[in-house]
Amino acid sequence: MKQDMIVILDLGSTENTVLARQIRDLGVYSEIHPHDITVEELKALENVKGVILNGGVNRVVDGKEVEICPELYDLGYPMISVDYPASRCEEQFAALPDEEVLKDFIFGKCQAEANWNMKNFIEDQVELIRRQVSDKKVLLALSGGVDSSVVAALLIKAIGQQLVCVHVNHGLMRKNESESVVKVFQDELHANLIYVDAVERFLGKLENVADPEQKRKIIGGEFIRVFEEEARKLEGIEFLGQGTIYPDIIESGTKTAKMVKSHHNVGGLPEDLKFELVEPLKQLFKDEVRACGVELGLPYEMVYRQPFPGPGLGVRCLGAITRDRLEAVRESDAILREEFAKAGLDKKVWQYFTVVPDFKSVGVKNNERVFEYMVIVRAINTVDAMTASVEKVDWDVLECVTERILAEVPNVNRVCYDMSPKPPATIEFE
Ligand code: XMP
Repeated sequence: MKQDMIVILDLGSTENTVLARQIRDLGVYSEIHPHDITVEELKALENVKGVILNGGVNRVVDGKEVEICPELYDLGYPMISVDYPASRCEEQFAALPDEEVLKDFIFGKCQAEANWNMKNFIEDQVELIRRQVSDKKVLLALSGGVDSSVVAALLIKAIGQQLVCVHVNHGLMRKNESESVVKVFQDELHANLIYVDAVERFLGKLENVADPEQKRKIIGGEFIRVFEEEARKLEGIEFLGQGTIYPDIIESGTKTAKMVKSHHNVGGLPEDLKFELVEPLKQLFKDEVRACGVELGLPYEMVYRQPFPGPGLGVRCLGAITRDRLEAVRESDAILREEFAKAGLDKKVWQYFTVVPDFKSVGVKNNERVFEYMVIVRAINTVDAMTASVEKVDWDVLECVTERILAEVPNVNRVCYDMSPKPPATIEFE
């Protein structure tokens, strides 16, 4: 393995991620591990150069005061503690050390090298994937989202045709999205890709269903069923690739909690479809996943695309989905994205999209009364999607978007801009 590692033991701190990021920013790889790690487990990690015991105000995880196994001190790794009384550590700090102190520990005491970069990461992962998978096959649900696309590219590099990608087009994708998945992965990266056209099937199941939660359940459940059907047709698959990333697995400091989380990511496949998971991105933060995608040669638009909900345009075609309104959402979304890109807003605004409600309003076109749909434009900024503020989009851009939507999207006679922050509104409408 190419990369040196500093291990952070989570002893109840709320700042493990901050510390891991600080260390990675210094060019050294860092992983967070639970407080109940055993001597064998720590010894099994490769290239560990030092350990930081990261305590917290109460040093409590899952309601219990934490203590590390005393034998860990005997392994000979340079160790410091933060907000945790450990007299056997070389140094104890009351709060997270500043950059100079951290550098002194990492590069001085631990003699770690600043060799954390995406090139080395990819080389390491290729080796680990090959070790894990050997000559067996891996199945991957390739949605075209950032995480699944980067996993696919990494697995193709590691095991080529032993990876089987399944792309399910549920009819709720954005304009040309499925086509671009096929173009990039099948035509350019020569992936073993199964394209499933399930548009009619999904739209059929969704007919007359107006309740948002019900719609979400149908889309999610049907996705699993389609994927499962494809999996059953294939032979000799032993592994399932997953785009799990670091924030998905580091919420708690115990091994059991970690397992519940990663198990959850299997995504509801039936018990008799037993796969071992391959999760090569599970140690990466989102920005690192994007950097990895760029290093693997994926197109910029794929790697830096804005967040897109799993149920896709299904939650933006409000109420019971109809084909004419779904097309209006898809076309208006494409226009909005084009105009935002022209104005340079695609790199500035966190998320922007259009929504079509399930009612009509009166208008006039060619001197005749019309009764047609409206498009709502939404553009927001946020850090963590828990709260969001509305982007103050330049009036000229909004005018241009409006003109184009009214001229190019059938059945639409009105465009509105959503001024609501989150809370009280959510980012999506359903
Ligand atoms: P809300 O509407 O809850 O959205 O304010 C917060 C963020 O989450 C995205 N979102 C989803 N992402 N699967 C996803 O992967 C989903 O089912 C889903 N629903 C909402 C939403 O686009 C926003 O960025």
